[in-house]
Amino acid sequence: MNKQAEAFLLEPGLAWADYRRNARARVDEIAEAERLRDGARVGISRKHESAHLHVAGQATYIDDMPELAGTLHAALGLSPAAHGLIKSFAIEKIRALPGVVDVIVAADIPGTNDCGAIVHDDPILADGKVQFLGQPVFAVIATDRDLARRAAAQARHVLEIEPLPAHVTAAEAHAAQSYVLPPMHLVRGDAQAGIARAPHRLEGTIQLGGQEQFYLEGQISYAIPTENDGMHVYCSTQHPSEMQHLVAHALHVHSHHVHVECRRMGGGFGGKESQSGIFACIAAVAARKLDRPVKLRPDRDDDFMITGRRHGFDYRYEVGFDDEGRVLGCDIDMVSNAGFSTDLSGPVMTRALCHFDNAYWMPDVAIHGYSAKTNTQSNTAFRGFGGPQGAFASEVLMDSIARALGKDALEVRRANFYGIGERDVTPYLQRVTDNVIRKLTDELATRGDYEARRVAIDAFNATSPVLKKGMALTPVKFGISFNVKHFNQAGALVHVYADGTMLANHGGTEMGQGLNTKVAQVVAHELGVSFETVRATATDTTKVANTSATAASTGADLNGKAAQDAARQIKERLAAFAAQRHGGEAADVRFANDLVHVNGQQIPFPELTRAAYEDRVQLWSDGFYATPGLHWDRVKLQGRPFFYYAYGAALSEVVIDTLTGEWKLLRADVLHDAGRSLNPAVDIGQVEGAFIQGMGWLTMEELVWHPKTGLLMTHAPSTYKIPTANDCPPVFNVNLFDNENAEDSIHRSKAVGEPPLLLPFSVFLAIRDAVSAAGDHRVDPPLRAPATSEAILDAVDAVLSGVAEKDAS
Ligand code: MTE
Ligand code: MOS
Repeated sequence: MNKQAEAFLLEPGLAWADYRRNARARVDEIAEAERLRDGARVGISRKHESAHLHVAGQATYIDDMPELAGTLHAALGLSPAAHGLIKSFAIEKIRALPGVVDVIVAADIPGTNDCGAIVHDDPILADGKVQFLGQPVFAVIATDRDLARRAAAQARHVLEIEPLPAHVTAAEAHAAQSYVLPPMHLVRGDAQAGIARAPHRLEGTIQLGGQEQFYLEGQISYAIPTENDGMHVYCSTQHPSEMQHLVAHALHVHSHHVHVECRRMGGGFGGKESQSGIFACIAAVAARKLDRPVKLRPDRDDDFMITGRRHGFDYRYEVGFDDEGRVLGCDIDMVSNAGFSTDLSGPVMTRALCHFDNAYWMPDVAIHGYSAKTNTQSNTAFRGFGGPQGAFASEVLMDSIARALGKDALEVRRANFYGIGERDVTPYLQRVTDNVIRKLTDELATRGDYEARRVAIDAFNATSPVLKKGMALTPVKFGISFNVKHFNQAGALVHVYADGTMLANHGGTEMGQGLNTKVAQVVAHELGVSFETVRATATDTTKVANTSATAASTGADLNGKAAQDAARQIKERLAAFAAQRHGGEAADVRFANDLVHVNGQQIPFPELTRAAYEDRVQLWSDGFYATPGLHWDRVKLQGRPFFYYAYGAALSEVVIDTLTGEWKLLRADVLHDAGRSLNPAVDIGQVEGAFIQGMGWLTMEELVWHPKTGLLMTHAPSTYKIPTANDCPPVFNVNLFDNENAEDSIHRSKAVGEPPLLLPFSVFLAIRDAVSAAGDHRVDPPLRAPATSEAILDAVDAVLSGVAEKDAS
């Protein structure tokens, strides 16, 4: 074991401090190098625009806002059964409880009782029928939050439910062919013929669990009735326009009556894309009925019980391959647990189908997607949006193929990589034209000393009967854009005030990912002013209309371009004015370092804006952007759904204890492609965060529903374990791969929010490699994800009995 890893096992806190110090030094190094690029405001490691507020507790989240006089508080009464008919509801018992002002039920909704994102099968409040344990049936409105919660907690005593048969697992629902949408098939060539032709064949199943978003700030909406049927909703949401739309429908008013605002979220991770809707609608319905402000902030347990999360997937596959491990044919069923309603399960499955290939060219494939309808929370977006679930399967296949052939897994991966100019068409017929997989992977293998460490690990395992080490290097190719074409548009509104300071507003939302920082950098760069000149403001449906969700990692790509368009228009007007005032050509006017260079003179930027204002030049502008070149046939699942691909790779080394199932990540090396990064510090933060979050999904975050009652038993941090700082590896080398975007994206950068979530496949497969070492790599370990200690022990057991069987025969 290397010294640092040893120190980490003995003194994790110490090693963590070391790690932070190294990371800080690296960021400073990048910042210093970038400072030398005169005048540039992009490509610079700039701290998050709210970092100083976050750390001081001064960043305002919705629950921090001063409450208006007369504000009431809501809490939700939840279904105590997984499926059934509501026989009776003793509502008067709830009304009689202390502090209760009203109890809102489905009949109180003036408009449509639906908050479904795409399909309208998502009741705001259950009406007659309950479809999962935890479904909101009523809302208690009380004078304070605590009294509202106490009253709502009586739900199981006042609701009488006549039970109906329920499916708790996706497997049960799949067996009964119960789906939220028709099965999807992405087929190229003849998978069965490819498999039949192949000299080697494998078949099997894989199990992959779901994941709770666990945003630190929970769901919250604060609805304030305004004059003339208006409603102002402060909502922690990734999708303000969708909230506006849903609230308008629920209240039976129009979009222009509803104003939705969100300055920031304390994390969204996909969980506040569609699922903030139910809270916004209930708060708004209560506010309208009572004509008072109403705030709804469920506590963490209720948040777990009500909202959905990442879809768990079950796979059944058949794969045929040649002596080099090249896949010749693959037929795979993917069954997702959609939950009780459709929500975003369609686009999640589409992305899963379109990411099964990951970095690999597969000539003949048949990928079948089934979105199983179960009586559980409705599953939704979560960082990667089905992409991770798709690609996970092919990474497990690569690992199993290598073991079957007695080859190193990296060698098999390399044999399957997409080619350049050949073997480069995906199953959905988009050509991969920006492929850097081989180059990036080779660079990481060299940096990470792959070959030598493989030898060292084998040597360690040969003399260590209980502790076993494992290692894996896995690549990522992730498509950027929404599969739905019309979402790929964005708007911005940039104000330049007469004193030369600016407000940058756009349709994207800030959830900690640094979008506002990047957009402000783009605006500052365009107008050649210092960062401090540009202030970011709340996302607001009255400023930019018809916005898309901040999702699919497209926030900076779309809103950065829209803000640049707005800033350019202002710049052109200022340049024309400067040339008119000081002589020379408008085209020659330059904006840099807070100065306007015109006709040999240097005018301070604020002096020019003041003069321009006095001369009646428009100093604000809107901006717009639509991603070019996309098309998608939703029936055939073919076209060009993605503007470009982001790439990455990670190399992880673990040690497991084969007697306890405990494990540690000893070292991780990451190389990630953020294009020409707008902000390397922010991007490295995104890569690190996604890596650890994905590692949590694959190794420790386990969701357990009671098989009979359908109760989610892991509904709080006491039973649902997310990774902490101490789970970070003592050696964590995260670097950005030098690779400008081949497409004309904003300053040739690449989206970075989701793709790195796939990097910790390397952690899971390193654990699988270590388990495999327990049987001298003779048996393919049936390791399920998450690879909890229990799952690791089960897999070790299976491997040891597999070896014993082989020896006996
Ligand atoms: N980073 C932080 N800190 N908090 C978040 O909630 N969400 C992720 C990712 N990074 C998230 C995050 C998800 S799911 C997406 S789609 C992207 O950020 C969205 O932001 P972007 O498009 O601006 O990258
Ligand atoms: Mo991210 S799952 O697209 O919000």
